[in-house]
Amino acid sequence: MATPKQPFFNFNILILFLFLEALQVHSVCRNFCNNVPIKYPFGIDDGCGAPQFQHMLNCSTDLFFITPSGNYKVQSIDYNKKSMVIFDPAMSTCSILQPHHDFVMTDIQSVTIPPSPDTIFVLMNCSIDSPVLNHYKSLCFNFSGHSCDELYGSCTSFKLFHLLSNSTPPCCFTSYNTVKFMSMNILDCSHYTSVYNVDSLKGVGPLDWLYGIKLSYSVPDTGCERCAKSGGTCGYDVETEGMVCICSASNNATIQCGPGIDTHDPKSRRVPIPLYAPQLVLAPPGGSSAGIMNIWC
Ligand SMILES: *[C@@H]1O[C@H](CO)[C@@H](O)[C@H](O)[C@H]1NC(C)=O
Ligand SMILES: *[C@@H]1O[C@H](CO)[C@@H](O)[C@H](O)[C@H]1NC(C)=O
Ligand SMILES: *[C@@H]1O[C@H](CO)[C@@H](O)[C@H](O)[C@H]1NC(C)=O
Ligand SMILES: *[C@@H]1O[C@H](CO)[C@@H](O)[C@H](O)[C@H]1NC(C)=O
Repeated sequence: MATPKQPFFNFNILILFLFLEALQVHSVCRNFCNNVPIKYPFGIDDGCGAPQFQHMLNCSTDLFFITPSGNYKVQSIDYNKKSMVIFDPAMSTCSILQPHHDFVMTDIQSVTIPPSPDTIFVLMNCSIDSPVLNHYKSLCFNFSGHSCDELYGSCTSFKLFHLLSNSTPPCCFTSYNTVKFMSMNILDCSHYTSVYNVDSLKGVGPLDWLYGIKLSYSVPDTGCERCAKSGGTCGYDVETEGMVCICSASNNATIQCGPGIDTHDPKSRRVPIPLYAPQLVLAPPGGSSAGIMNIWC
């Protein structure tokens, strides 16, 4: 009686196994946060992406970029142009006036993923003692033919300054370096906003400017392309920070998952790949076998 059912039983087990296997591949490194694709060098799970970018993203209700001054909503990531647009919910825009708030990045962030050169910071309602109106006047510039007066004139939020002071309070268009080296308190300006893609805003009014911060990152060259092409996901060993190619939940390789593999077929992954010498140096001396010693995928 049991005999006819046997093949079905095995088949079901196989399907279940493949299903679990596929599920595990995805549970090691999530590659989406809501509808934003998460690819190298970013990662939202430990050991995923490049170590330089670890703990920078938080996928809770939405995707957030984590900095010492707060979590900023990630609006988009352009993997071809290597840029990410974030939005500071506490900053002022053409339609909302909010008290100033410093934008602070970690030292690593300001090197690996700084604001792009076509992102400018607009310091508004600066006091006449502000450094950017005195010693550091040269840090202010006009961009694409625009002046601060336009902001005070056309934005519902910034019109208030005009109304309250009955004059045009000083303002400054400046680059990230200014806010990096001087806090808002030192700058002595009551409000700020930031605008990106400024090179394309010639002749465009402040109502249509793009408010937010565009960051541009560089991708560490660790041979990730080879791993991705072989069906793996690039990650790193949490302890040594050495690069690993994550082929499935139970298999990591140092470089790639093996030529022409099908990641859903566990057997096809067992292809030896050449040892990558520098990784061996990182192995704990006489220590317990680390994941990086696993050279077969
Ligand atoms: C992730 O972001 C949410 C929303 O901003 C926050 O509540 C949570 O504490 C954050 N987690 C980490 C680890 O930063
Ligand atoms: C503009 O800055 C001054 C201090 O320089 C401050 O007293 C005033 O409240 C600010 N205006 C607005 C609308 O916040
Ligand atoms: C910026 O533009 C304003 C108005 O067009 C002008 O008065 C000012 O001199 C310009 N500033 C610089 C630094 O070019
Ligand atoms: C593979 O690497 C990931 C990320 O570092 C880690 O979480 C996982 O435990 C590793 N698996 C093995 C078998 O080493």
